[in-house]
Amino acid sequence: MPREFSSLRLLDIPVKVLFTGYLATVAVGYFMALIQILFTHGMADGEFGLSIDDIVYSYYGNRSGTVLETKLNGSMKDMASDHERFVIIQWIRDGAKKTEYKTSGVDEIVKSRCLACHNENASGIPSYEKFEGIASVTEQDDGATFSSLTRVSHIHLFGISFIFMFVGIIFSFSETSRVGYKCIAIGMPYLFLIVDILSWWLTKLHPSFAVLVILAGGGMALSFGFMLFISLLEMWAFKFAFIDSQGNRRPQWSFYIEHWFINMGFQSPEATLKIIWKMIKTFALFSKKKWLQLAWPVVKKLVIQAWGSIQKSKH
Ligand code: HEC
Repeated sequence: MPREFSSLRLLDIPVKVLFTGYLATVAVGYFMALIQILFTHGMADGEFGLSIDDIVYSYYGNRSGTVLETKLNGSMKDMASDHERFVIIQWIRDGAKKTEYKTSGVDEIVKSRCLACHNENASGIPSYEKFEGIASVTEQDDGATFSSLTRVSHIHLFGISFIFMFVGIIFSFSETSRVGYKCIAIGMPYLFLIVDILSWWLTKLHPSFAVLVILAGGGMALSFGFMLFISLLEMWAFKFAFIDSQGNRRPQWSFYIEHWFINMGFQSPEATLKIIWKMIKTFALFSKKKWLQLAWPVVKKLVIQAWGSIQKSKH
């Protein structure tokens, strides 16, 4: 590689320690995030492990049911016995009436099983001490709310882009991949991040986009793992990984997978970018179609309604 830059292997040990500390901490953070996803989204359909259904329930909702019922069959399944859950679900299906809250026995169950966590003092989770609290989750389950989506979206965009900033900077000092491939590895996570966030919103509109959430999340994890692995290898195990027994440099890793890539149509970084661009274009067209089919009629109706009520209030 005829370029002048300090490669990872030549860095001072203190800098290597700094980089390694950062990468290791972020890796643990990533692992924790995965566990959290498994226990919240992963349990949305009541079965352990992440599936398309989980994503659909989390963002689009389970529109034939209520939040309370979805949760009782999902992440709150272990909080009450089967019988108790049955009693609550019966009550919901009978119309979740206030008059029947006590007589049906739901009141007692909530008091003994749920209030330990869902009380006024708990932060971040709704309180069910008052009937109104429970009532708010017995309406149709529309999945993630607009306000929760905007909040989580901006936290993710700001937070994760920072993580990839530093991981990308560290990886940019690597020398065992060609410049073109390095650019792709560094740029990819940002693309995946944006597609990921976008796909939450699209899934909120229509469940068919749930696949995209998983693909983008997986892509992000893959790029992260790749940069982390190569960076650590170059810093601490360069000889072992990149020098053969005769003391010669092994070919860059891109050399090995290039044949494989070429067979798939990725002849060069340029060709690869073209393919990615084509994918983005296809995706944009698909989104536009879905938008016109599904979202636009809804938005149009809302605007007309709002306009109508403004006109009315004038008279
Ligand atoms: C050990 C603590 C704990 C207990 C006990 C508990 N919950 Fe939860 N609950 C949580 C947490 C944490 C969340 C937020 C994470 C999630 O949605 O899975 C939550 C979320 C919920 C939600 C979703 C709220 C929303 O607006 O999205 C519902 C509904 C719910 N719980 C119902 C219940 C019911 C009914 C019981 C009693 C049978 C119960 N929970 C018992 C901790 C608890």
